[in-house]
Amino acid sequence: MTGFKEINGVLNADNVPLTDIAKEYGTPTYVYSADVMKEQYEALAGAMKRALPADRQPLLCYACKANSNVAVLSYLRSLGCSLEIVSEGELKRGLKAGFKANQIVSTGVGKTRSEIISCLEAGIHQFNVESFPELKHINQIAGEIGIKATVVFRLNPNVSGGGHHKISTGRKRDKFGISEESICDAYQLASEMEHVEPVGLSVHIGSQVFTVESFKTAFEKLPGIVEKIRENGHSVTRLDIGGGFPIIYKDEKLLDLDRYAEWVRDIIMPLDTEIIMEPGRYLVGNAGVLLSEVLYVKETHDQDFLVIDAAMNDLIRPTLYEAYHGIEPVENRDAPHHNYDVVGPICESGDTFTQGRDLPKMNQGDLVVVQSAGAYGFCMASNYNTRAMPAEILVYDGQAHEVRARESVEEIIDLDKIPDFIK
Ligand code: LLP
Repeated sequence: MTGFKEINGVLNADNVPLTDIAKEYGTPTYVYSADVMKEQYEALAGAMKRALPADRQPLLCYACKANSNVAVLSYLRSLGCSLEIVSEGELKRGLKAGFKANQIVSTGVGKTRSEIISCLEAGIHQFNVESFPELKHINQIAGEIGIKATVVFRLNPNVSGGGHHKISTGRKRDKFGISEESICDAYQLASEMEHVEPVGLSVHIGSQVFTVESFKTAFEKLPGIVEKIRENGHSVTRLDIGGGFPIIYKDEKLLDLDRYAEWVRDIIMPLDTEIIMEPGRYLVGNAGVLLSEVLYVKETHDQDFLVIDAAMNDLIRPTLYEAYHGIEPVENRDAPHHNYDVVGPICESGDTFTQGRDLPKMNQGDLVVVQSAGAYGFCMASNYNTRAMPAEILVYDGQAHEVRARESVEEIIDLDKIPDFIK
C-alpha cells in the first residue's frame, strides 16, 4: 500500500509504521514516500504521453528548490527527471545526485558570477535569463572563459496565478522575467552578442496555481512572440513552460493534467520546439510528512494548545503563507475530536501550525504528523532558536532509509567565532 495510510490503527509510510520511525530516528523528522513520488511522476509524465507524440515528450526538469535532498534528487532522476536549479548549491546537489549537466536548466533573477561560471564549466542545458543586465553578465563571463552560453528568455506574461500573493510570479510588478514589449529586443541583442546563443523562451507564472486557466492564458502569449522573433530572422527551438502544478493541502480541486497536456498540445506543440517543464511541488509535496511529538497539552480558559516538538523553523509555510496543512495523530486516530491550536516551541505567536482545528484528542507523548510537507518543507527550514535541522527519512519498498541525519546543535554552534578583541 503506497503513501501515508493507516494499518492496524497506526499511520504508516509505505507500510512502515511511523511509530517505528519515531523510535529509531526521533522527532521532528521529515518522512518521504518514494512510492508517492513515483505515482506523481507517472501521473504527470503519463498525461504528457497521452497528449503528445513520443518524439515530442517534454523534458521534465524537477524544480529542486521544492526538496533538494540528494537522495530525493537521485530517485527522481532514476524515474526519468531532468533538473531545474536556482543556485550553485543546487547545481552541486544535482551533479552529486548523478544528473548530467546537459539535463540541467538554471533559472533565477540573481545568478551570481560564481554560479554562472560553475554552470558554464559544467555544460548545463540552458540559462533562463530574466533581465538585460543578466544577459550582459552571462555574455561577459562566457567570453572570459571561452564557452558559448545557451540562453532562453523568461517572459513576464502579466498573468497572475500563484496560490498566494507571495508565490505569484507572472504579474507585471513581480521581479521576474522580461515584459512582452521588451523580450524581442532582448532576443535581438543576444543574437548580436558573441558569447551567448539565444534558443527560446520560458514562462513560469507561479506556484500552487489553482486558477488553472492562467496556464492557458500564459501559454497563449507565446505563439505571437515566437512568430515575431522568427520574423526577425532568429530561430526558436526551445520553450520552457515552467512549473506551478497544484497539490492537495485541504480540499483544493486539482488541475486536470489531461486538460493541461491538451493546452500544451494545442498551443505549444505547433510551435515545433523542444518542450521543457519545471514541476517541483507536484512531484514531492504530498510525498512527505513532518513527524512530531506532542510535548504538552496546554489547557487554558480560552483555548487548548497542542505544543509539538516541530516548529516554524522546521516548516515555515503556515507562518509565511498562512498555508493550510493537514494534521493527524499517528495512533488513536478515531478518538473523539477536540478543538486545538497546534503550536511549536518557538518564542513567537506566529509559530502556529493551525488555530482552532478539530482533531482527535491527543495526549503528551503522542505522535502527530503535519501532512503535505514534502515540498518547501525541509529546504526552507532554519536554525532559528538554535534548533537543529530535522532528520529526513525516505521510505522505499517497506524500508526506511535515513537520507539526512539530524543535525547536532554543536555543528551549528561550531560555525560561530569569537574574535580576539573580546576579553
Ligand atoms: N520554475 C521556477 C522558475 C520557479 O520559480 C518555481 C518555483 C518552479 C519552477 C517550481 O514551482 P512548483 O512546481 O513547485 O510550484 N516556497 C513556496 C513556493 C515557492 C516557489 C518558487 N518557485 C511555498 O512553500 O509554497
